[in-house]
Amino acid sequence: MTPQAFYGAAYPKLCAAEQQLVELIGRCPVARDSEGREAAVLYCKSRIKSPESMLDKLEKNGLPPTSRAALQYMHDAVGVRAVCAFTDDVYRVASWLSAQPEIRKTAVKDYIATPKPNGYRSYHMILVLTDGPGAGMTAEVQLRTIAADFWAALEHQMKYKHTVRHEKLIQDELKRCADEIASVDLSMQTIRELLSEDF
Ligand code: GTP
Ligand code: MG
Repeated sequence: MTPQAFYGAAYPKLCAAEQQLVELIGRCPVARDSEGREAAVLYCKSRIKSPESMLDKLEKNGLPPTSRAALQYMHDAVGVRAVCAFTDDVYRVASWLSAQPEIRKTAVKDYIATPKPNGYRSYHMILVLTDGPGAGMTAEVQLRTIAADFWAALEHQMKYKHTVRHEKLIQDELKRCADEIASVDLSMQTIRELLSEDF
């Protein structure tokens, strides 16, 4: 099924919301300026949730397989992921975004402060666009470091495979890598702070 067929009349508005959020995040100020100018957001990815995954999610939640239920009860028909170099940039972008007049934040899950048991680290926000072309639409924004994004991409491959050989071993290895990545992120952060004292 095409997204147009599933989301119907709401589809253009979902696309407008996706574009509006990506453009908004693109206007996020740099993390440091003049000599040490660095983008706070390295890159952004976005998507409209496919009808297949939305239908799966509706079914899991005991909801009817309709666009109406999807838009009313699910908050991630529009998803935007912003990837940063450093953990403190993640928080900086999150707080900048929360303060923008065209959005209202309705929920936050800080899986950096409280990682998932599998090692997943990311900062999630559910937002409603209150103004602009996507006004009225809800979206999920995921913010994470580039290292955590690298990890999440591989972990996602495992999670959505039906049968995985050596599953427990792979889970344990992924958890170990997630913790090492978190430790490296922290060291990188500290090194940046030490370097910035020289600016
Ligand atoms: P869904 O997981 O979307 O049903 O919603 P939820 O209410 O559990 O929200 P949560 O914030 O936990 O997850 C939202 C999204 O974050 C997911 O759809 C994934 O894109 C991503 N995510 C959450 N947990 C993990 C994880 O353990 N690994 C990876 N790779 N992605 C995750
Ligand atoms: Mg989940």
